[in-house]
Amino acid sequence: MEISTIVITVAALAAIAWLAFLVANSMRGRGKEEVAPNLAPGITDDTLESKRLDKTLASAVVLSGILALSLPIYFVGEQSRQDGFVEEFDQVALERGAHLFEEFQCGNCHGVDGGGGAAAYVEKRSGISVAWSAPAINTVFYRYTPEEVRYWLVYGRANSPMPAWGLDGGGPLNDQQIDELMEYLQSADFILPQDDALLLIQPSIDQALSRLETADTVMTDAIAAQGVLVESVQAAPALVGMAEALAGRAVAMLNDAGDGIDVDGDGLPDRIEQELTDIFAEAGDSLGDPALVVTLNPEAAQTGAGEDDLDLARRAVAALESVATGLRVTADNQEKLLSQALGGLAFLEQAQQEKKWEVDITAVADVTFGGDVETAGRALGLFNANCARCHTAGYSAGIPLTQSVGSGALGPALWNGRPKVQFLNAADMVTFITKGSENGVPYGVNGVGSGRMPGFGPGLSLEDLELIVQYLRGDTLTGD
Ligand code: HEC
Ligand code: HEC
Repeated sequence: MEISTIVITVAALAAIAWLAFLVANSMRGRGKEEVAPNLAPGITDDTLESKRLDKTLASAVVLSGILALSLPIYFVGEQSRQDGFVEEFDQVALERGAHLFEEFQCGNCHGVDGGGGAAAYVEKRSGISVAWSAPAINTVFYRYTPEEVRYWLVYGRANSPMPAWGLDGGGPLNDQQIDELMEYLQSADFILPQDDALLLIQPSIDQALSRLETADTVMTDAIAAQGVLVESVQAAPALVGMAEALAGRAVAMLNDAGDGIDVDGDGLPDRIEQELTDIFAEAGDSLGDPALVVTLNPEAAQTGAGEDDLDLARRAVAALESVATGLRVTADNQEKLLSQALGGLAFLEQAQQEKKWEVDITAVADVTFGGDVETAGRALGLFNANCARCHTAGYSAGIPLTQSVGSGALGPALWNGRPKVQFLNAADMVTFITKGSENGVPYGVNGVGSGRMPGFGPGLSLEDLELIVQYLRGDTLTGD
């Protein structure tokens, strides 16, 4: 039983005893003839100084005894009571943190479980809209100290889609809210257990390598998509007039549907249903957008599954209007948008020629790993899965934007023998990568850490870290 429960029980018993005493006392005097107090004979000095005094003193001793006993008992319970408050407080903070995670949609980019995802972003080198990879954050405390994670939360990561969340970084969350978010991110509810995290190493290597194998297809698709974008910008001025006219007619028709025969009683006269259907068909055809084609059946109140024709018609008209608005914006800014889109296309076509993402594994094996292709592949896979997002330009923006391995991004370039200039030997370099950098603490020969280089000790095995270092200190990473 908890000490506090004991204290409460003792107090309750004492209260009951006191009540019982009062009741008994009041009963004792009953039945006797009432005598006014001023007429009753006074208590003699003898009684006052002996019996009365003894009784009073005795009860004082008993009460002091109870006090002397209950205070320590209460005190013994104090620690667990305080712990209870702290626990309750933590629980509340954790719930608020979980709520903030949802409210500020961390999961949209990092995955609802924090396992990683992607965010829409305009890549700066090419001006192309890409899906920028967002790292897993349910493993982030295996890489960074809590203060370092807090830094990223407060200030975000400039030149990437990661927004600043703290007031100091220009974001919406105050210190307490950042604390609560941290509480949630560090909780067992959120963190991926280390054993599970280790199980992801092999799949992440496989994924990094297969990304290279499918690169040509991805590149071709990206060029085709950019081509479609260029064409749509070119076509906008010719289409905008027609789109606006069709949208205008559809809106007018919906607004003044008026009376008329309405066989299915859905609030849209048959004639209007037919005419809207014709407009949607014409829009789909002439604007080359099949999604605009919507058919309304004048003989059924619901043409689409579970949606009234009136709602369906309103939604389709709104879609047509927004296409018309989009075309208007594009047509009005055509020159700028076209040069951007063409610039992106030229960038992609050049990237397709240069294939900077490509790595000659056989050469890496021959030069650095004694001809062992499998080990060379593992080293490259490990680097791309764990390091490339900060040390290879464009890596997070996808294959078409990926520059040569080790070209440098948030972290310094690691190509052209840089690691051998910074670290006198492989062992020092392994130690650095195991622990990561600390703000203001020197590393290597010339380095001063900022705390932004994560530590990989808890995330990767020593053998794997040594493989990466061997790869980076080899002579195959070159570029300009
Ligand atoms: C719009 C997309 C987006 C949203 C929303 C977003 N992030 Fe990020 N976050 C990113 C991207 C992208 C990166 C990695 C940037 C890079 O490429 O270096 C990142 C990086 C991080 C990092 C550093 C991880 C590391 O290992 O480098 C943490 C921690 C983080 N985010 C937490 C959060 C939290 C918590 C929230 C919600 C409050 C959040 N993010 C909301 C996109 C987002
Ligand atoms: C979240 C970004 C990030 C990731 C991921 C990352 N690094 Fe770094 N790295 C940095 C930053 C930033 C520095 C510069 C030191 C600093 O600012 O503290 C750095 C520095 C380095 C250096 C020293 C370079 C020099 O010349 O001073 C080496 C070597 C290095 N990282 C290797 C790695 C390896 C290997 C991995 C993967 C296992 C990796 N990094 C993953 C950000 C990152």
